[in-house]
Amino acid sequence: LIALTFDDGPRRSTTTRLLDGLSERGVKATFFLIGAQIENNGDVVRRMDEEGHQIGIHTFDHVKLTDLSRTDFDAQVETTRALLKSTLGHNDFLLRSPYGMLDESVKAWAGCPIILWSIDPEDWRDQNTDRVVREVVAGARDGGIILMHDIFPESVDAALQIVDQLHQQGYLFCTVDELFAARGLPLEAGEMYWNAYP
Ligand code: NI
Repeated sequence: LIALTFDDGPRRSTTTRLLDGLSERGVKATFFLIGAQIENNGDVVRRMDEEGHQIGIHTFDHVKLTDLSRTDFDAQVETTRALLKSTLGHNDFLLRSPYGMLDESVKAWAGCPIILWSIDPEDWRDQNTDRVVREVVAGARDGGIILMHDIFPESVDAALQIVDQLHQQGYLFCTVDELFAARGLPLEAGEMYWNAYP
């Protein structure tokens, strides 16, 4: 089992192509969304939800969550949560803090599990499809969480190639919730999770 996760979207062109490719392959992923990009992409976000993908919060406009006042934290996290709730009609979203930066306040105020990652190919760095595919496939491990960004065409290409190669190795892709549920590991609000290794 392995979880593909995507940060910094939605971006209509690339996210839509990714959703098409995941749908063709019967793969569910987890998307950590930027609040400011939700309003103009409500249909894309609803499609994610309807097709069984899991959705999380990645702040309203991609700021560090550390050293914020409660008011500023809520403007980033609670505003995005409210937007997602009004877009989707439910309210069970995970949190991934930008840059993985956390402090005690973030944990106390998150109000949901905080999901980090175990495999980071830094796909944003050179947007090199072949390198990203190689690094993720080499780093794949049962229970892993892969971090990518669905705002780059090269990352969409890489993600679909990764799915095809890991399928050949016998991996099953699942959402973060499904991954931890399969391992009998409860996800708790304010706690941090990097992987669900057996
Ligand atoms: Ni990010």
